[in-house]
Amino acid sequence: ASSHRQMEEVPLLMGSNCRAKGAAPGFKVAILGAAGGIGQPLALLMKMNPLVSVLHLYDVVNTPGVTADISHMNTGAVVRGFLGQPQLENALTGMDLVIIPAGVPRKPGMTRDDLFNINAGIVRTLCEGIAKCCPKAIVNVISNPVNSTVPIAAEVFKKAGTYDPKRLLGVTTLDVVRANTFVGEVLGLDPREVNVPVIGGHAGVTILPLLSQVNPACSFTSEEVNHLTSRIQNGGTEVVEAKAGAGSATLSMAYAAAKFADACLRGLRGDAGIVECSYVASQVTELPFFASKVRLGRSGVEEILPLGLLNEFERAGLENAKKELAQSIQKGVSFINK
Ligand code: NAI
Repeated sequence: ASSHRQMEEVPLLMGSNCRAKGAAPGFKVAILGAAGGIGQPLALLMKMNPLVSVLHLYDVVNTPGVTADISHMNTGAVVRGFLGQPQLENALTGMDLVIIPAGVPRKPGMTRDDLFNINAGIVRTLCEGIAKCCPKAIVNVISNPVNSTVPIAAEVFKKAGTYDPKRLLGVTTLDVVRANTFVGEVLGLDPREVNVPVIGGHAGVTILPLLSQVNPACSFTSEEVNHLTSRIQNGGTEVVEAKAGAGSATLSMAYAAAKFADACLRGLRGDAGIVECSYVASQVTELPFFASKVRLGRSGVEEILPLGLLNEFERAGLENAKKELAQSIQKGVSFINK
């Protein structure tokens, strides 16, 4: 083991050191906030992803333990841990994909916007590091309020002169995962076979499932539409209340984030036809950011797909969503430019 350790170039807290020089071809992925409720299971899932050759786990607490633990999994990725701000730059250097679940989660009675004051500053600091150390990386933002943290990241990158809107993606996959599950329940279908586009943003009424566009094609009664729309929009709150103060969705979120990261990596590899919903810089509406179906490729977001036909209920929902989204975007932009 000691000779293995001597092979390391990067100072490590812990890791599967003997593989560092002979890492399999694949992508380098960093998780920022890796010791958290989302970060830990997400680290586990990314360690299982065969497209990942190097996995960097960064947090301000507890990364040595999480890294030691994850590094014992006999999968290909080399795992390295980084603890605290002085190690942020090493954590980020050379990364192809950076996933950000750092920040505080909701407690019962809180909206995602209530997290703004703490998480905005965390996302700013982490994005300053990305601009400096891996400006070409694809960035997946999970930290809430996503409707504001993505605009914050964009402003940080603009200031640094590194902004590429194709490479900055807000993770709304959990809304799609929930929609597929809940619609599958109502229709009696395997949720893996259901695909519900969810557009808008990632908070309350900005989460807009397009039930008229569900694949496979199906129809719902108006009661079903009301029930499903409300359950999808409040899925996060359902978990926050069930956890009763112990946090928000972490396991389903890690699953969703791993699914989305895998789609980004397959896009980077050059696979064709990778389409996911994501909150990105967009011209699909008059707002500067909007979640909708995007096609992922070697440069990140290669195409933003049109919204398609919306029914009257969805058009009304869209108008509602846009009002709140506009404010959340402005709040994020002003945080950096104040
Ligand atoms: P958590 O509190 O369990 O974990 C957050 C982690 O971030 C902690 O380990 C903490 O030490 C770390 N952290 C704090 N400041 C940091 C910094 N400056 N640099 C690096 N790491 C830092 O929270 P949880 O449950 O993992 O949630 C994380 C975030 O994800 C929250 O903002 C939550 O609202 C959001 N979230 C987003 C969802 C989405 O669909 N996009 C769904 C669920 C949660």
